[in-house]
Amino acid sequence: MNKDRFSDVFSEISNHLKSADLTVVEGLNHICTVLRKTFAHYDWVGFYFADLEKKRLHLKAFSGNPVEHQEIPFGKGICGQVAETHQNFVVPDVNAQDNYLACNIDVKSEIVIPLFLEGKNIGQIDIDSNKINPFTSKDEKLLEAICTLISKTYSTSLLQL
Ligand code: SME
Repeated sequence: MNKDRFSDVFSEISNHLKSADLTVVEGLNHICTVLRKTFAHYDWVGFYFADLEKKRLHLKAFSGNPVEHQEIPFGKGICGQVAETHQNFVVPDVNAQDNYLACNIDVKSEIVIPLFLEGKNIGQIDIDSNKINPFTSKDEKLLEAICTLISKTYSTSLLQL
């Protein structure tokens, strides 16, 4: 894996969102698929969006095995914590976390990056890996850039998911 892979995948996603006539959910699913196929350490990729009044996250798009956590209350698990802290959460070893929701016993690590629209944390990208400690600052930068791209591309349509 090298630096070019990260910028290449960002360009590919950005061009596809501009050129293809996709619904928001189709666009999000496309991003999940491209990311999971590009990076060997991305075993499951999904987007959760928040119901800010009910304080719950809902899974809206993913690539990988189906998971039981379709809905997550704020504060629960890695995802629920990011809904409250509004900060990136990189977990090198999920077994070392007390507040963690397991999806699959093969998962060893996780990264969750919040997605902001007009300064509000409205959702997040969540990636599970079957490897221990695979995520670096390059993953964080790429995923932050993808979240910003999604926010700019889809804007307030993201609130109707
Ligand atoms: N592990 C997450 C739950 C979602 S799954 O990874 C898809 C968590 O602790 O919030």
